[in-house]
Amino acid sequence: MTKIKNICCIGAGYVGGPTMAVIASKNPNIKVTVVDINEERIKAWNDEDLTNLPIYEPGLPEVVQKARGQNLFFSTQVDEAIAAADMVFISVNTPTKTYGKGKGMAADLKYVELCARQIARVATSDKIVVEKSTLPVRTAQAIKTILSETGNGVNFQILSNPEFLAEGTAIQDLEAADRVLIGGEQSPEGEEAIQALVNIYKAWLPEERILTTNVWSSELSKLTANAFLAQRVSSINAISELCEATGADVGEVAKAIGMDSRIGPKFLNASVGFGGSCFQKDILNLVYIAKSLGLVQVADYWEQVIIMNDHQKNRFAEKIVSTLFNTVADKKIAFLGWAFKKDTNDTRESAAIYVADKLLDEQAKITVYDPQVKETQMQRDLNYLKTRSEEENQEGLATAADAYACCQEAHAIAILTEWDEFKALDWQKIYDHMPKPAFIFDGRGILDEKQMRNIGFNYFVIGG
Ligand code: UDX
Ligand code: UDX
Repeated sequence: MTKIKNICCIGAGYVGGPTMAVIASKNPNIKVTVVDINEERIKAWNDEDLTNLPIYEPGLPEVVQKARGQNLFFSTQVDEAIAAADMVFISVNTPTKTYGKGKGMAADLKYVELCARQIARVATSDKIVVEKSTLPVRTAQAIKTILSETGNGVNFQILSNPEFLAEGTAIQDLEAADRVLIGGEQSPEGEEAIQALVNIYKAWLPEERILTTNVWSSELSKLTANAFLAQRVSSINAISELCEATGADVGEVAKAIGMDSRIGPKFLNASVGFGGSCFQKDILNLVYIAKSLGLVQVADYWEQVIIMNDHQKNRFAEKIVSTLFNTVADKKIAFLGWAFKKDTNDTRESAAIYVADKLLDEQAKITVYDPQVKETQMQRDLNYLKTRSEEENQEGLATAADAYACCQEAHAIAILTEWDEFKALDWQKIYDHMPKPAFIFDGRGILDEKQMRNIGFNYFVIGG
């Protein structure tokens, strides 16, 4: 029976960091080392001051404090950590390819492959390799092939253990997971590897929540879960436009359908569009796989979820322009929020980036306030789109130190992220410092419509 004493995780990002911190805190007898090629990131994970952790995630500092230096370590010594481990998690990023075959759609697996090669190079003892990164179906097979060609007599078992945590609630999602999914080879060695990982999760989760499957089911389940969740958001967003055209209210519709226990109430908040590192990428993966297999209708069906999401982001930007008398040129537009959702500093695929890009095309002057996102990140996000020069982005978008400064003298306010603190602002005071007519475009439906109208705002909400 394999008993794991030493774990290495390659990739100290939004998934690897919190996941390993929780595994370490629940398994004090296992040494967990998280490695990353990014020195700055590792330095931040090791910072005495826990407010400097590279990832903003409620509850994370407490968990890190408990385990760090005891049985949880962060390091850039990748080879050493791999060599010492019985189990290696691969948790590096798998961005959408920006070049070559499958550009804009297929996952770029070069980092995952590099990890596999590195493991193959340094391993001198048997290891269980766990894919934690979200990967297209059948990647485990590729990893296995690379590892088994090493010829140094080391045995590897590959497991798929997709992560279902959502950012902003990661610690809660890990500590009280609905389920953990472990896919492995259907052989005695495979079963033994699966059991070794089951035992790690059993330290804090009831066994019936730990599902075991074959590797491919596990890989596909991750993509499917995200595709279904994203589809719910696109579905309610599609209805939001219909509501605006008919006088129905999307909040009321969501409540009415959500009370049907077959549908359920979660993930029915109409919004300016979903973002995050996973939804778009995972659906594109699914679409690419379906296309590669010649399943055109399957590919088209899922691609529509993305098309709807792009439409929702565009439509919000266009609404702002058309409402402001068809021009936003040189007008100050205040953005409240830049992160892809509240309680995270992650901005990957955030709707705010695309809305800003559109408004900059219209020569608006944008000022942003986000409690956790720095201006350098916002500029990086815009520059990544390559729509205009870096200087032009810098000229078009500035940040403010707080929400009041952000909204001062703005022609319109756009709410892009649902941070709780935005609800508690003194909206009368904000109104008093804006030119009239003063507009609010609530992309997250977080404000009280009646109150806003009473103050005097022209208030627009998605689906209202
Ligand atoms: C995760 C999953 O791994 C990804 O598949 C999923 O789709 C999104 O969430 P995440 O943890 O959010 O990725 O990514 P990121 O925060 O970028 O962290 C990845 C880390 O891996 C980075 O810190 C990067 O420096 C590191 N890395 C990358 C390596 O250490 N080695 C490499 O070769 C590549
Ligand atoms: C998602 C999955 O939930 C998680 O299980 C998986 O492991 C990674 O991908 P995450 O991307 O962190 O997690 O955030 P999530 O809470 O799913 O939100 C994704 C996007 O959808 C956000 O931009 C959010 O604002 C948006 N959303 C969500 C809505 O617009 N409306 C909703 O009702 C719910």
